[in-house]
Amino acid sequence: MKIAAVRGFRDILPEESALWQVLESHARTSFAAYGFSEIIVPVLEKTELFARAIGETTDIVEKEMYTFIDRDESSLTLRPEGTASVIRAYIEHSLNHKEPVSKLFYIGPMFRRERPQKGRYRQFHQIGAEILGRDDPLIDAELLLMLNDLFQALQLDVSVDVNSLGCSECRPRFRESLRAFGESKLAQLCENCHNRLHRNPLRILDCKEPGCRQATVDAPVITDFLCDLCRQHFAKVQGYLQQENIAITVNPRLVRGLDYYCRTSFEIIAHGLGSQNAVCGGGRYDGLVEQLGGPAVPGIGFAIGVERLVMLLQAQERYLSNAPDVFIAPLGEAAEGRAFSLARRMRQEGYRVELEGGGRGLKAQMRRADKLNARHVLILGENELNAGKGTVRDMQTKTDRPMAVDLTLPAPAMINVIRNVND
Ligand code: HAM
Repeated sequence: MKIAAVRGFRDILPEESALWQVLESHARTSFAAYGFSEIIVPVLEKTELFARAIGETTDIVEKEMYTFIDRDESSLTLRPEGTASVIRAYIEHSLNHKEPVSKLFYIGPMFRRERPQKGRYRQFHQIGAEILGRDDPLIDAELLLMLNDLFQALQLDVSVDVNSLGCSECRPRFRESLRAFGESKLAQLCENCHNRLHRNPLRILDCKEPGCRQATVDAPVITDFLCDLCRQHFAKVQGYLQQENIAITVNPRLVRGLDYYCRTSFEIIAHGLGSQNAVCGGGRYDGLVEQLGGPAVPGIGFAIGVERLVMLLQAQERYLSNAPDVFIAPLGEAAEGRAFSLARRMRQEGYRVELEGGGRGLKAQMRRADKLNARHVLILGENELNAGKGTVRDMQTKTDRPMAVDLTLPAPAMINVIRNVND
């Protein structure tokens, strides 16, 4: 009997993994430009780490974690997100003694036992970044700027929702006001929200139930409750972004699914992804390092959902091409031997070269070149090659062009001749 993958866990096949590479390499370029270094943390942590960092009353901790009791009776959890682990490592290795500011990024799988659907999996991947050691608004703006650069480089059209969640001074006042408002709308709120109202009232703003959405349209908004310092911080973040013409939408209803946030919080929303349309989420978490037993170091970060972003890339034709730069079709054993060396030289220069041969006839080789979407095929026949000649077939126009084949020519020059480019 066949064994299928576990529900919500999936294989990433070569066609899709090529797009993961596109995303990852753009991300690495942006991270390098802004001075981030990679940190690689384990996928398994003590359960307590997530319970304390993410919050006991969040959906993630209450019902979505893959937790098990190990043979030594300790409770372990497959990480549902990366921030808690990065901070655990930051504290454990006293990174604050090495650098006043740590800029760290990570790439890897996360695990949440959510109901699987398009864009939502039980094992998914994040590309995340954290800045520890700075609490000024410049840093918040810089992080959003870096994300903007990345999405621009990928040519993806997204909107950025930003809010301030205040601090331990001003948020309690907002929470109480929201709770009182919720109590007055109890009859219209779903059962889940009744629960939230007592344990985590901010979450009622995030409920997807139409009744709850309707009931909370006039709910108090955090931006009316911010203390002076939080208000100034938020204004400065917006000022820096305006200065760089970065479009953001201030969304005072934005709350996050994790409890550690304060001040600047944001989500990046993509169009055309259906209900799972948040491709990135993040924000500031100034008390968290201390809460996890570390020094009083402020922090801010984000995580991009790789699967969702790759779905966006899949919708873009320009990312779909895995076509070789040149397809070489040798005819006969001697031609194959020379094509073999030629292909190697071109590949060493970084060109994508498909070499067919294997005794196949011209027709079969052309069919394969078509399948691979090769634009140019270099046909090397035995006799012609001995006379220093070959043929280039343009697969788009289906025309043949004779070509002088000098196998001693450097690979880039050869590619230019094949493409009929004169430089
Ligand atoms: P998050 O909003 O829970 O934040 O997740 C970030 C992103 O991960 C989401 O916007 C989404 O794209 C993706 N994601 C989350 N759950 C799933 C899922 N089940 N399937 C597919 N994709 C998913 C965090 O995790 C925070 N640690 C981000 C952060 C870093 N905040 C500060 N630093």
